[in-house]
Amino acid sequence: MPTANTFAGPAIDPGPGPLVDPYGRHVSYIRVSVTDRCDFRCVYCMAEDMTFLPKRDLLSLEELERLCDAFVRRGTRKIRLTGGEPLVRRGLMGLVRGLSRHLVTGALQEITLTTNGSQLERFAAELVDAGVRRINVSLDSLDEGSFRAITRRGDLPTVMRGLDAAQRAGLAVKINTVALKGVNDHEIEPMMLWAHGRGMDLTLIEVMPMGEIGEQRIDQYLPLSRVRAELMERFTLTDLTYKTGGPARYVKVGETGGRLGFITPMTHTFCESCNRVRVTCTGTLYMCLGQEDAADLRGALRASPDDALLDETITAAIRRKPKGHDFIIDRSANRPAVGRYMSVTGG
Ligand code: GTP
Ligand code: 5AD
Ligand code: SF4
Repeated sequence: MPTANTFAGPAIDPGPGPLVDPYGRHVSYIRVSVTDRCDFRCVYCMAEDMTFLPKRDLLSLEELERLCDAFVRRGTRKIRLTGGEPLVRRGLMGLVRGLSRHLVTGALQEITLTTNGSQLERFAAELVDAGVRRINVSLDSLDEGSFRAITRRGDLPTVMRGLDAAQRAGLAVKINTVALKGVNDHEIEPMMLWAHGRGMDLTLIEVMPMGEIGEQRIDQYLPLSRVRAELMERFTLTDLTYKTGGPARYVKVGETGGRLGFITPMTHTFCESCNRVRVTCTGTLYMCLGQEDAADLRGALRASPDDALLDETITAAIRRKPKGHDFIIDRSANRPAVGRYMSVTGG
């Protein structure tokens, strides 16, 4: 009689498993910055005279796709393409189309984008065709002059046409507004009414101390607890359990029927439920937005066409994912919490 073992067959290698960090958090969301370049120079994000990376340092679109595939195999459910401005990367639509095969198989739940809206008029319909259903658009003012001052070069009517095109194409749009003291605080209420009137969610963001921007962060920083308290004097805000997988906490605004989100890295941390990591356009993996530790995935990608080294490098990096960031903004903290610009890590 053959024993059971005779029929066991060769052991099947289960391959690298799901990505779980030392605190038991599953990494299921990657934010991929496809370029550090941008056609804007927002005052809280970049210095006026930025030097961008030489093109040869960037991962090719094929390498970016291979890298994303490796994460999808390990349980990534959501990919957000960021930048810089992702839509200025030539050939980006090819990457979106390539990744969208994971939507078809059900491995990925969502491919989405955070954009400044400047190129949306041209790309909105194509994004929908490639499987994108929802995008976040960064917009900090509805006043043309103030918009130009914040972005140092953006054109508000172009972004507005982009938003129109996005909604016409059927994309769900969330507006991201960084709250800036003395700059757009008086616009928060009108922006909320405008966004909700167009069926868009609005998320307010506390400015984070990243990169030398040539200005004092303390002069920009507006705690959202204060904004919320002021809004509550005029509107009925009800906490929602609604989640998008990102760090925003949402309320329903009774008077508009719309959703308002708060991203509060400074006044309240959400790191305990962090499910994401970031990959830059040069293939550097940052395990936390607010820490310097990183892993070089470009070296691993280029060392061999086989993914074994890449998988190993990712596993080792996730084992080092820190508990959270420690951003501080005060008069004594003159240096940013991390030296790199937000446009490098993509937010
Ligand atoms: P949704 O999928 O719509 O929830 O998007 P999101 O909020 O995850 O992404 P988005 O690109 O719109 O980012 C909005 C802001 O949240 C940006 O300023 C990001 O830098 C910030 N943000 C996103 N994830 C983190 C995080 O893990 N830590 C911190 N501190 N900020 C984050
Ligand atoms: N602090 C907070 N948000 C920032 N963003 C860029 N730089 C900063 C910063 N220093 C925002 C952009 C965009 C998102 C990806 O990050 O406005 O909405
Ligand atoms: Fe460009 Fe976005 Fe940075 Fe503004 S915040 S400069 S739009 S990457």
